[in-house]
Amino acid sequence: MSKLRLEGKVAIITGAASGIGEAAAKLFAEHGAFVIIADIQDELANQVAASIGPDKACYRRCDVTDEKQIEETVAYAIEKYGTLDIMYSNAGIIGPLGSILDMEIDQFDNTIAVNLRGSVLAVKHAARAMVANKIRGSIICTGSVASSLGGSGPHAYTMSKHGLLGLVRAAAGELGRHGIRVNCVSPSIVATRLGSKVSNLDPSTIEAMNAQIANLKGFVLKAEHVAQTALFLASDESLYISGHNLAVDGGVSVISNILSTLKR
Ligand SMILES: NC(=O)c1ccc[n+]([C@@H]2O[C@H](COP(=O)([O-])OP(=O)(O)OC[C@H]3O[C@@H](n4cnc5c(N)ncnc54)[C@H](O)[C@@H]3O)[C@@H](O)[C@H]2O)c1
Repeated sequence: MSKLRLEGKVAIITGAASGIGEAAAKLFAEHGAFVIIADIQDELANQVAASIGPDKACYRRCDVTDEKQIEETVAYAIEKYGTLDIMYSNAGIIGPLGSILDMEIDQFDNTIAVNLRGSVLAVKHAARAMVANKIRGSIICTGSVASSLGGSGPHAYTMSKHGLLGLVRAAAGELGRHGIRVNCVSPSIVATRLGSKVSNLDPSTIEAMNAQIANLKGFVLKAEHVAQTALFLASDESLYISGHNLAVDGGVSVISNILSTLKR
């Protein structure tokens, strides 16, 4: 068996100009995939594509809030590379940070538009192409601890990521008959640009803070760890896994400290 876990596959990764998406683009390409980097940060995205190499990656400007741009990006994959095996819908923003009492509804709408509606469009157009071309593909969305736990992220962000989990489960239900898998990868805090916006702290301070509040001690969660999990979900190693929310959070979303607090 080849050690390249995505040999010959074609993947679109949204939000791959930085952070988790960038790490996934590099890892997927290392494992033999051709990666289409779909983002809105032209300069950064071109740098990521160039660092991977033109034979393994390219950049397509794609604002995930614009259905036409997603449709065209999917069509580009099929026309130029003959297939679309993996859609990794990862683009996201943190949205407004304040109280629900003062929530600006335009900012809420914008958060939903990128994080949830953008993923709905990515799933819709990737699935259309996969069904039409009889591709048993893998669709992955980046959720969050905030997909299942209130108070672990800003309000609009939490609502968008809860919705994302609904999208994954609904789509997995319908697309299973076509052999298409849909899963979610849900990290806790990673010191990316998005992670820094929550706290206004530099990456090393965020990581030190994380280490303190983490359940699993002795490791620091990096974008590469999330990318490894996405690689698993993209590859045939997860062949019978669908509709799943795979947490990459050292257990924080399923563990409460109530008992140890009471014992003190
Ligand atoms: N960093 C964390 O702590 C953390 C934790 C859990 C989940 N996540 C999720 O991981 C995903 C990636 O975030 P990250 O931490 O790597 O942050 P990041 O800011 O480094 O990357 C996000 C990428 O999304 C792109 N993007 C934003 N709006 C877009 C749009 N409209 N169209 C296309 N691309 C767009 C940005 O240009 C950027 O390249 C997000 O969905 C985020 O919610 C992050």
